[in-house]
Amino acid sequence: MRTYLFLTLASVSLFLGSSCNRQPEPPKQPEYRVTGTIKDLMDSMVDPSADFLWDSVATTVSAKGIEDKAPHTDAEWAEVRRRAITLLEATNLLLMPGRHVAKPGEKADDPKVELAPEQIEQLINQDRKIWTDRAHALHDSAMASLKAIEAKNAEELLNSGDGIDQACENCHLVYWYPDEAKKLKDVDKQQQKQ
Ligand code: HEC
Repeated sequence: MRTYLFLTLASVSLFLGSSCNRQPEPPKQPEYRVTGTIKDLMDSMVDPSADFLWDSVATTVSAKGIEDKAPHTDAEWAEVRRRAITLLEATNLLLMPGRHVAKPGEKADDPKVELAPEQIEQLINQDRKIWTDRAHALHDSAMASLKAIEAKNAEELLNSGDGIDQACENCHLVYWYPDEAKKLKDVDKQQQKQ
């Protein structure tokens, strides 16, 4: 009984001690400092890295014959790897909460085809899962490139390019120019009828 009382007193004083000494907590600083917009990420990381990967391997057929362009030296492979890592990690940046699509007042370049940034943002926020899935799909396809790069396999790197292209397009058709998606579907239907 005595032990019990002692324990109770001890816990009461612990409780009092902890609540009296506690300073009001300062408002929590957000962990991330989201700076660029989705448009900025596309322009500075996603697009240039993907372009670099696509351009690093190519087969050109000309009068001179068939020419295979591919990374050869360790330094060249290291450079494509940097671009693949940038592309992969950019997909995480796309998912950070609080990132806006464009700067306030920025307009679509071609409003006839493209949604306005605020419409895109509304679409993203109304179902984050679709946005996340599309970003993950780009990550998956870029992983195929990274694997090929780490195996120094130029043919696989070339093959992985199509998957990246598809992942870009599959997201853009939902958020950036969805009317184009409708048109493509109509064309599909027309072709099925014929
Ligand atoms: C998860 C969705 C998503 C994926 C994946 C994605 N994009 Fe985008 N992209 C967008 C959205 C949304 C916009 C429209 C933002 C804007 O420009 O207002 C955009 C815009 C762009 C722009 C225009 C940027 C500008 O300055 O206006 C380019 C270029 C672009 N994307 C390239 C790519 C390429 C290349 C890939 C694939 C390697 C890709 N994107 C993958 C969502 C995505």
